[in-house]
Amino acid sequence: SKGNHRHFMLKEIYEQPVVVAQTLRAYLRRLDGEVALPTENFDLAAVKRVTIVACGTSYYAGLVAKYWFEQFARVPVDIDFASEFRYREPVLEPGGLALFISQSGETADTLAALRHARLGGQTIAVVVNVPTSTMAREADLLLSTHAGPEIGVASTKAFTCQLAVLAAFAANLARAKGRLTRDEERRIVRHLSEAPAALAAALAYDEAIEAMAPLVAVARDVLYLGRGVDYPLALEGALKLKEISYIHAEAYAAGEMKHGPIALIDDSVPVIVIAPSGPLFDKTVSNMQEVQARGGRVILISDYDGIQAAGDDCLATITMPKVHPLIAPLVYAVPVQLLAYHVAVAKGTDVDQPRNLAKSVTVE
Ligand code: M6R
Repeated sequence: SKGNHRHFMLKEIYEQPVVVAQTLRAYLRRLDGEVALPTENFDLAAVKRVTIVACGTSYYAGLVAKYWFEQFARVPVDIDFASEFRYREPVLEPGGLALFISQSGETADTLAALRHARLGGQTIAVVVNVPTSTMAREADLLLSTHAGPEIGVASTKAFTCQLAVLAAFAANLARAKGRLTRDEERRIVRHLSEAPAALAAALAYDEAIEAMAPLVAVARDVLYLGRGVDYPLALEGALKLKEISYIHAEAYAAGEMKHGPIALIDDSVPVIVIAPSGPLFDKTVSNMQEVQARGGRVILISDYDGIQAAGDDCLATITMPKVHPLIAPLVYAVPVQLLAYHVAVAKGTDVDQPRNLAKSVTVE
């Protein structure tokens, strides 16, 4: 049931601190400071390339994971939409690891891609939320998210749980590759363990986001900008907004704006900038200022320091807790979800059952 919440989507957004904790418990030995994935029977040290395949929100979780796998484990990652994967004749070398990400475990394109990779001799790892699903059954390495049933068509808690598993997996792969000292592993475990409390702190901004929803609800087009792992989050934000509020939204890597899309900017296009303080902050802010110089109105999502440094000329700001960059993608998912949710409510759309969409896409 929806409990006290008006929609399943909101209930599921609010479940995130608990379900992410549940998911992390399965993959971290917190007291020992170790990541613990069921990989004993796999020679991860021999993995030379990872191929990630998924659709929709699960694909965006995969995009974040690409940054992590390459950064921690120094293993090159290819990533495809499942609907593109088979048809581009991907080069699958023996000994490769193919990773499929899916809430339902039944998405037709992802399942077909999995079978294609199997024929290509890949080891099949699967991050799924439904443990009885077809993908779970066909996996060599099953990494379940423990988000519980997700009812809202817009995926929320499954996404943050996918990120939790993928971060632990990246650390696990890095360790197998000899790329992680004991201390670094301990630190990763500690940062990941801080995610549930940080998610709860992010939820505290719900009312403030609700109050600014009308600013976005009147728009015909919305842009989302981010750099690094915040770019996939921008993509996720745009997808959430499109699918439940029916407002046209696009995401760009912040540095790409000046290569074309900045021509769209005027005061009728709200620009949502996702920029936690950190090494990429100044770069993103200078892209944000290019937007503002052309009359663009910005909603900046950052932490206290970031808002202090760059929030002055913004239309609105959303203050997140200051968190370690590793867990920032989980934490910043929350305001992005809440903004889409409240805009949809303001527009009076059917949040849990948006038009033209099904929870699980079982046709190609
Ligand atoms: O069940 P899956 O994770 O395989 O589903 C993939 C997409 O269909 C799904 O994420 C879709 O994009 C959501 N409606 C996004 O909110």
